[in-house]
Amino acid sequence: MNKPVIGILGAGKLGTTLAKLSTKAGYQTLIASSKPAAKIQLTISVLAPKATALSAQEVTRQADIVILALPLSKYKTIEKTGLAGKVVLDAMNYWWEVDGTDNIYTTKDHSSSELVQQYLSKSTVVKALNHMGYHDLEDEAGNGKDGQRKAITLAGDDFKAVAAAAKIVTDLGFDPLILDSLAQGRILEPGTSLFGADETQKSLQKIIDNELQKL
Ligand SMILES: NC(=O)c1ccc[n+]([C@@H]2O[C@H](COP(=O)([O-])OP(=O)(O)OC[C@H]3O[C@@H](n4cnc5c(N)ncnc54)[C@H](OP(=O)(O)O)[C@@H]3O)[C@@H](O)[C@H]2O)c1
Repeated sequence: MNKPVIGILGAGKLGTTLAKLSTKAGYQTLIASSKPAAKIQLTISVLAPKATALSAQEVTRQADIVILALPLSKYKTIEKTGLAGKVVLDAMNYWWEVDGTDNIYTTKDHSSSELVQQYLSKSTVVKALNHMGYHDLEDEAGNGKDGQRKAITLAGDDFKAVAAAAKIVTDLGFDPLILDSLAQGRILEPGTSLFGADETQKSLQKIIDNELQKL
């Protein structure tokens, strides 16, 4: 089966790192900021030369699966028409320096990804690729044999969408670890001991078990 075309919204630190990893994994990769493609062309040609810079509208329309790598506080600026019916991987986190001191996104009642899912009501959101820093993502991808590779945790409500996201995580060079629901994705957000985790599947599972008890 052909690999899905990956789209990335956000051409900053995380977006360009993921573009580099996904092209290395053999995925056709399209990337956009909110500006015209020409504004990121040079950056992409240097940091992820095999990826294609397009407009956000083109990326959402042409990609099969889209990764959100933009500031969380801008989620309502996401070009959502083209995302209808698609799996969307939400890698966004609340970060006060960027998103403001009023954290309305991630609360005791909901994970930020549940808000994103509400906004992208015609898409299927999976929380993924949010808890590891972009340097670690770049440095750790593909390192180690089975059981020694670093793990990425995913959370979602739709089995098929989570499986598709897990396949991408595996192809990027990480072992996937899957939580039962998008709501459980709260334990992957800033302020938890999972946030920033750069661990193998086995040690990550221990941290997860501990965090789940606090929910
Ligand atoms: N940095 C990390 O290590 C890391 C790791 C995991 C998760 N994250 C999360 O990933 C997200 C991005 O972080 P970052 O560090 O990569 O930020 P960044 O370097 O500031 O990049 C953000 C990118 O998003 C673009 N953008 C803004 N609005 C957009 C829209 N509506 N459509 C498409 N692109 C848009 C920005 O470009 P324009 O403003 O020019 O449009 C910029 O290219 C954040 O939510 C962060 O919490 C970051």
